[in-house]
Amino acid sequence: MTQATAIIVGASSLLSREIAKQLADDGVELALLAQDPQSLIEFSQSLPTKAEVFPLQIDDPQAVISTLNAVWHSLGGAHLVLVNTGLNSYDPELPWQPEQDIITVNVQGFSAICNTAFRLFRDQGYGQLAAINSIAGLRGGPNVAYHASKAFAENYFEGLSMHAQRLKLPITITDIQLGLLDKAALQQSRIWLSPPAEVARQVIKAMQAGKRKVYVTKRWRLVAWLTKLLPEFVYNTRHWKTKAQKRAEKAAKKD
Ligand SMILES: NC(=O)c1ccc[n+]([C@@H]2O[C@H](COP(=O)([O-])OP(=O)(O)OC[C@H]3O[C@@H](n4cnc5c(N)ncnc54)[C@H](OP(=O)(O)O)[C@@H]3O)[C@@H](O)[C@H]2O)c1
Repeated sequence: MTQATAIIVGASSLLSREIAKQLADDGVELALLAQDPQSLIEFSQSLPTKAEVFPLQIDDPQAVISTLNAVWHSLGGAHLVLVNTGLNSYDPELPWQPEQDIITVNVQGFSAICNTAFRLFRDQGYGQLAAINSIAGLRGGPNVAYHASKAFAENYFEGLSMHAQRLKLPITITDIQLGLLDKAALQQSRIWLSPPAEVARQVIKAMQAGKRKVYVTKRWRLVAWLTKLLPEFVYNTRHWKTKAQKRAEKAAKKD
């Protein structure tokens, strides 16, 4: 294959679109997989290279596998498969349904996509599988299933990378650990926010460099390092008390 080709799975998000735009600007032809393909038609037509849109039914592993195989064969193979699907939600009552949905998309769907992509690369003899994961996978957290699903994704990628080495095949597995941007936004901490174009630039740079694992943006590497290091009683901020709480406790003890 001489023409660079990439398949983006979960192409509807803002970050995916930015990555697609920058790859297309570099001359990469694209296949964009999204839950609602219609919503991407206008965008795909605005890109400077050929970009086709396909439906993605991530809650049905057999459908995911068939779609990915069909897209692959229609392209005649691909250099890159980038997985950017993900579901997250928080409800302190921990109802089961959202947990199940997260596991379906982030664990079952994720592994169906990555397993299929890996086997296609194996048969092709080369390629790169990359995924946008999250540093949320480093520890447990209040979005219980989400944090656990991201740990699964990280572990799954390590396994695939080891398997590629065992097969002695030039298949690059790139784990892109994205910072908790939503959390930063919620805390209105602009220091931690990076424009999507910059995030996409760093993602593409890491993929081009064939990195095994990368933190995006770079500053999250420090947070990841600290997150792994902290003992649970420090990491778990629920143990922390505000000055007002401490004063109230002191006053209650005196009474
Ligand atoms: N945003 C953040 O702050 C942040 C931080 C750290 C890590 N991440 C990770 O980065 C990745 C992408 O995040 P994002 O912010 O770009 O997320 P997003 O905007 O929510 O996009 C996630 C993608 O997954 C797709 N998806 C979700 N459920 C689906 C389903 N049932 N069937 C098919 N597609 C489905 C979405 O499609 P639809 O649009 O059609 O639903 C969308 O394309 C995720 O793995 C996320 O965990 C994000």
